[in-house]
Amino acid sequence: MRKKMIAGNWKMNYTINQGEDFIYSIIDSINTDEVDVVICPNFTLLDRFSDIFEEKRVSLGAQNVYFEESGAFTGEVSAPMLKALNVKYCIVGHSERRTIFNETDDMVNKKVKALISNDIIPIICVGEKLEERNNSSMFDIVERQIKGALKDIDDNNVRKNIVIAYEPIWAIGTGVTATADEAEEMCKFIRKTVGNMFSSSAAESVRILYGGSVNPKNASEILSKENIDGALVGGASLKNDFISIVNFE
Ligand code: PGA
Repeated sequence: MRKKMIAGNWKMNYTINQGEDFIYSIIDSINTDEVDVVICPNFTLLDRFSDIFEEKRVSLGAQNVYFEESGAFTGEVSAPMLKALNVKYCIVGHSERRTIFNETDDMVNKKVKALISNDIIPIICVGEKLEERNNSSMFDIVERQIKGALKDIDDNNVRKNIVIAYEPIWAIGTGVTATADEAEEMCKFIRKTVGNMFSSSAAESVRILYGGSVNPKNASEILSKENIDGALVGGASLKNDFISIVNFE
């Protein structure tokens, strides 16, 4: 049985003071064992949250990582640096990184490997653009992204140490959500693709989230689907709505 996960992607929001104020206002309401709750704030908040989360049932996530360990890579942060802050999860290949910062499948794959070697679980984002859905190439696009991200990863790691998030780009921050059936169809396809690349037990174990305008109104229908194991929440994770999504049942 796969445990559900709700991850909040705060993106480039909140200064240290604002982030601290907000987290204190919601942290005790997200003290649950039923669901794995992950908060991914910006880099400047990781150190503070590392202490705050220690006593709570909330895991710390980062939004990005660089794949080299250290050296002359101005502006980047490495997996060992995240590990030292108790970061348990890290988003990789978010569509904003792919489109604004030109991240490729190959870079995503290197980041996944760097995270796994530092015991951090990657939350690998995949998803198609609107025109790709309209011309029905979405399955090819997502399959390419999955194959690229998971190239040369071993079966055991896929089984235990990977999370995949299906985030159709047309649904991110737009208020337009994929229908629960569309989301389920793609998450099922992702599971099948993982099964073709790895063992059936890897396909059965890997957690697949949906992301894209998830809110308290649509969460429970989306999360009731067989192949959807949770949600990656952007805008609504910056508000008290996040608590309602965590308590979706
Ligand atoms: P959204 O963002 O919930 O604001 O659509 C989701 C994401 O980008 O992870």
